[in-house]
Amino acid sequence: MHQLKHNNQLSPKAPHSSSSSTAAAAKTMLERVLSSRRYGPHSSDDPPPSSSSTSPEGHAISSFVSADESKTKPPNLSSLASNYISRMSHSSFHCVIFGLLLFVLALIASLMYHSRSLVCISRFDPKSRVGFFGIDGLESDFAALGVPWCRSKHGKTVDWTSKDLVKALEEFIPIYETRPIKNNMYGMGFDHSFGLWFMARWLKPDLMVESGAFKGHSTWVLRQAMPETRIISLSPRHPEKYLKKGPAYVDENCTYFAGKDFVDFGSVDWKSVMSQYGITDLSRVLVFFDDHQNELKRIKQALDAGFQHLVFEDNYDTGTGDHYSLRQICDQSYIRGGGHSCFRDSDEARIRSKRKKFWEKAVDIDELCGQNEAWWGVRGWMRDNFNHSNKPISYEEHFQNSRFIESILDLYWELPPVAGPSLTHQTRYDPARVTNPIVEDGRYGLFQRLGLSKLDNSVFNGYTQMVYLQISEQP
Ligand SMILES: C[S@@+](CC[C@H](N)C(=O)[O-])C[C@H]1O[C@@H](n2cnc3c(N)ncnc32)[C@H](O)[C@@H]1O
Repeated sequence: MHQLKHNNQLSPKAPHSSSSSTAAAAKTMLERVLSSRRYGPHSSDDPPPSSSSTSPEGHAISSFVSADESKTKPPNLSSLASNYISRMSHSSFHCVIFGLLLFVLALIASLMYHSRSLVCISRFDPKSRVGFFGIDGLESDFAALGVPWCRSKHGKTVDWTSKDLVKALEEFIPIYETRPIKNNMYGMGFDHSFGLWFMARWLKPDLMVESGAFKGHSTWVLRQAMPETRIISLSPRHPEKYLKKGPAYVDENCTYFAGKDFVDFGSVDWKSVMSQYGITDLSRVLVFFDDHQNELKRIKQALDAGFQHLVFEDNYDTGTGDHYSLRQICDQSYIRGGGHSCFRDSDEARIRSKRKKFWEKAVDIDELCGQNEAWWGVRGWMRDNFNHSNKPISYEEHFQNSRFIESILDLYWELPPVAGPSLTHQTRYDPARVTNPIVEDGRYGLFQRLGLSKLDNSVFNGYTQMVYLQISEQP
């Protein structure tokens, strides 16, 4: 009785008839149901299908009968197929399919997110970052936490454009592939090698000074940029010493203040050295520092000597690195991305703790802040000499340091990373504190065309915001 009522309700086309004929039809149908149940649903003794009734309620009755027959007859492939097709046209079926699709998508997203625990993917792997931040996280998060920079006296900018950088990259890659020191661990990687080569070639100095040579890779880079120009290299250990153990580079047109002849940059009598090399115009000299010394100290020494063009290899972000850097000095509250709060519930704290999970060099608020909420330098310390000699500084001192830099600075330019992390697979620097790369994420065609895809991923892991400065005495 319930079935009948139910069936009639579902049949929008059921004609309205007299109550007696409806009752008769219902009785007939009930008898059929009962008789079919006696045979059992899958019995081989099933009765032949009944023909449709000729009652005035013909339509309703025949549809009920055929529905009932489907229960009593063993299912065959053709009826299953026709059922399936008829259901396909039903809107509820679309809902089911849509629901299934959503479920599958949710399952895939969940697998990507939890994949670290299922398979051994590093938390610094780009796949993990996609799972955590979404696809956009890889491409759009450059400078998301701000990129502090040093204000120059007159807001001067560099002459070169991003087009110049792309063009130069194409030229530099085959040169880089011929480097004598293939594995330059603890020395410069690809990004900074390119930056140094590009700037030396663009500026075309009459003399190049290098402080911190290690095995000689940066000396080789300077030589590729300027094949005929004299180099002066200062380093406690002579690069030739490394030749005994493996590849190193010793330049023929370079004067080494190294080994027993080592003199620290701040102790060299530059006036006498410059006249020795016939340099009268110090604006024609490029000085490159990769010696991990306090950069404020180095700038004061360079200014005293009269040098104007300086490149610092390691321009560490606040809270990181083994020496006080330009980036740290100019991290001030009046600069976008500069100045920090040690409040653990701030947006910055939340973003930082999230990013720390995916970028090796990212620092969270706990690492950024030292005693008494000191965040400047490295937790309120001015580091120097590979973190061997440090001094705590007050906030006022830190602020005054940036005022001094601004008073002598003509130009500040940070080299962008050569390519986005989804292309290079670098896992160290956090893009949120870095300017847009030369080859942006998603531009794999360009990355490949330039020849960058031929390089080993490991050479892209050393980016620390190399910076080019022009300085001059206060008027
Ligand atoms: C990171 S390595 C330089 C890497 C090198 N520029 C390269 O591209 O491969 C730092 C170098 O600075 C040297 N160094 C240490 N103290 C120095 C100082 N006061 N002046 C110059 N170099 C110094 C170290 O001996 C080491 O060779």
